[in-house]
Amino acid sequence: QGERPENETEKGLRVQDRGFLNTAVMQSTITYIDGDAGVLRYRGYPIEQLAEKSSHLESAYLLIYGSLPTASQYAHFEQEIMNHGVTHSDATQFFQSFRYDAHPMSMLTSAFAMLGSYYSEANPSLQGQRLYTKGDAASLATMDRQIYRIIGKAITLAAMAYRVRQGREFVTPPTGLSYTASFLYQMDHIGEQDYVPNPILVKALDVLFLIHADHELNASCTTVLQTGSSLVDPYSAIAAGCASLYGPLHGGANEAVIRMLISIGKPENVPAFIEAVKRREKTLSGFGHRVYKTSDPRSFIVRKTADEVFKVTGQDQLLETAMALHDAAMKDEYFIKRRLAPNVDFCGLIYRAMGFPLDFFPVLFAVPRVVGWLAHWRQMMLQEGGVKIWRPRQVYVGETKRDYVPVDDRV
Ligand code: ACO
Repeated sequence: QGERPENETEKGLRVQDRGFLNTAVMQSTITYIDGDAGVLRYRGYPIEQLAEKSSHLESAYLLIYGSLPTASQYAHFEQEIMNHGVTHSDATQFFQSFRYDAHPMSMLTSAFAMLGSYYSEANPSLQGQRLYTKGDAASLATMDRQIYRIIGKAITLAAMAYRVRQGREFVTPPTGLSYTASFLYQMDHIGEQDYVPNPILVKALDVLFLIHADHELNASCTTVLQTGSSLVDPYSAIAAGCASLYGPLHGGANEAVIRMLISIGKPENVPAFIEAVKRREKTLSGFGHRVYKTSDPRSFIVRKTADEVFKVTGQDQLLETAMALHDAAMKDEYFIKRRLAPNVDFCGLIYRAMGFPLDFFPVLFAVPRVVGWLAHWRQMMLQEGGVKIWRPRQVYVGETKRDYVPVDDRV
C-alpha cells in the first residue's frame, strides 16, 4: 500500500480554502470593506468623502502613513514624489528594446523589476541585513525613499510605455504640475509648445486614481506581500504585483470590458450576449466581485466622473450598449441570484473617451495601485514580531510512495 501521504500523518489542522475565500493572512489597519453593505473606507474615511474632497496624493499619504497629512507634511510628501519622477537615462534604451507592439503592462512590469537593479540600498541581500526597523529613523528614511521613488516613477514609466510604441521621444517630468497633471503632460506633450492638460480631465483622472489606490488583499496586493515576505526589494515585489494585476479577472478587466462591448456592438445584441453568458460561453467582464455582493461603491463614483468627462470629450458610442447590458443583467434572475453587480471596471469607458489606447487601461489601474501595494508592504515590514515568510500548505492528493521502474520494465 506504500506510505500514507504526508498531510494525513501530520498533526494539527489544515484547512483547504480554494481561492482563499475565508483565509485572513494578517491583521491590517489600512482599508475596510463591507461587501454586503457596499462600504469602502481608507483608514476609516469613506471613499465617497475622499473622492469628493481629497486628491490622489493626499489619499496616498493617508493610506501609507495612517492619517491625513498636515499642510507641511503634504508639501514634503508631494515634493519628494515629484522630485523622484525622473528616471535614469538607461531607461530610455530599456524601453526601446521592446517590440513595437509590446503590451504596456509587460513593459511596466519589466520596468519596475529593472528599477530594482538601480537601488542597492533597498536590497536586503546586498545590505546583508533586515532593512527596516520601527523607531529607527535611518531605516524608516530608507523605506520612505523607496516609496517616493516608486510612486514618483510610476507615472514616468507608464508614459514611457505609452510613447515608445508611437516612436515618440520621452518627456522629462515637468515641474509645477500636480501628480496627475504631470502624468498627462508626459503622455501627450509635443515639441516645444506649452501644453496644459485639460483641468477637468486631470480632476477626473485624479478621482479615478484615488478610488483605485487600494482595495485590501486582492490578488495583486497579496502577490506583492507574498513576494515581499521573502524580504526581496520592493521594486521586485511591485513588479510581481503588476504581473498579477495584468490578468483579465483583475486589473485587465477594464480592458476586457471594452473588448466585450465592441464585440456586442449594438444594444439590440445585448439579450443574445446575456444568454451566452448564462450558458457560460462568454464572460460578463466588469461584473461580479469576490467581496462586494451588493454594488461596488466605486461604480457610483465612476458614473459621476463619466458625466464630467463626457461633457468635455463627448459621449462614448459604446455607452448605450453598456447601459443596455447593465439594465439587462440587473433584472436577470441569473445575476440577481448570484449577487452580481457592476464593479469598478466600467471606468474603461472613461479612459476610452479620454483617448487612451485600449491596452493601456490596466496601466491606468497599476499606476495608482502602487500606493496600496506600498501601504501594505510598509505595514508588513514594520509589523510587531517582524516579517513571517508567506508559505501556505497544500492538501496532497497524489500517489503514495512508489518505487522507480526501469524503462524496459514499464508497461
Ligand atoms: N459573469 C457571469 N457569471 C459570473 C460572473 C460574471 N462576470 N462573475 C461571477 N459569476 C458567477 C460564477 O460563474 C459563479 O456561478 P456558479 O455559482 O453558478 O458557478 C458565481 O457567479 C460566483 O462567482 P465566482 O466565480 O465564484 O466568484 P469569485 O469571487 O471567485 O470571482 C471575479 C470574482 C473573478 C471578479 C468574477 O466575478 C469575474 O470573473 N468577474 C468578471 C471579471 C471582472 O470584472 N474582474 C474584475 C474584478 S474587480 C477588480 O479587479 C478591480
